[in-house]
Amino acid sequence: MKALIIAIDGPAAAGKGTLAVALAQHLGLPHLDTGLLYRAVGRLMLLEGRDCEGDDASDVAARLQPSDLKRDDLRLPEVDRAASLVAAQPAVRAALLQRQRDFAAAHGAVMDGRDIGTAVFPDADIKLFVTASAHARAVRRYQQYHGHDPSAAEISQLKAEIEARDHIDSARSVSPLKRAEDAILIETDDLTPDQVLARALDIVARHPKMTAENR
Ligand code: C5P
Repeated sequence: MKALIIAIDGPAAAGKGTLAVALAQHLGLPHLDTGLLYRAVGRLMLLEGRDCEGDDASDVAARLQPSDLKRDDLRLPEVDRAASLVAAQPAVRAALLQRQRDFAAAHGAVMDGRDIGTAVFPDADIKLFVTASAHARAVRRYQQYHGHDPSAAEISQLKAEIEARDHIDSARSVSPLKRAEDAILIETDDLTPDQVLARALDIVARHPKMTAENR
């Protein structure tokens, strides 16, 4: 396998993380969930009693250790919000940029996040933008956390939280969540994870680096 860089961007709970893990495994590529970087910064800010919106978090981003990404408390609702807030700070994004580029330098990578195809790897070999309606994403997120279907009230609360985070991510001035012009759109509302993977593998198989290899 030639060093292939695959960028997968999209909003929360659209299925990009599941796709990224499966794709990396299929292709034998390293995988980085870049959301974990922002989650770890947000988590450490909360632990230090600092304000994720008002206080500069770039010192925390600069001293992030690999073990910080393995904490088991990165997916709590308060960390969802803290991550989005620190991610809106330009100095935090700058502090994390080279680390993300270095990750893919040696062997290529599948990287998922919000700005991989637009800012981290604007020249990525393959760019996918994975999305779904806020309703479908709220249902999925609830099922992930609780293992059963949500009530209508629970859906509407989660949907509001997801939309609030979409808004922070899309409205920020630096590296906002947006589809790169050359990203291929995959809408996952009516697709199973296996169908999403099949679609992505089909896109990868047609890439010149892959077809040249098979010649
Ligand atoms: O993907 P995940 O939901 O874990 O990301 C947490 C938060 O980190 C996002 O809401 C977003 O604000 C931020 N993020 C980002 N850029 C990335 C990945 C995540 O701004 N490449």
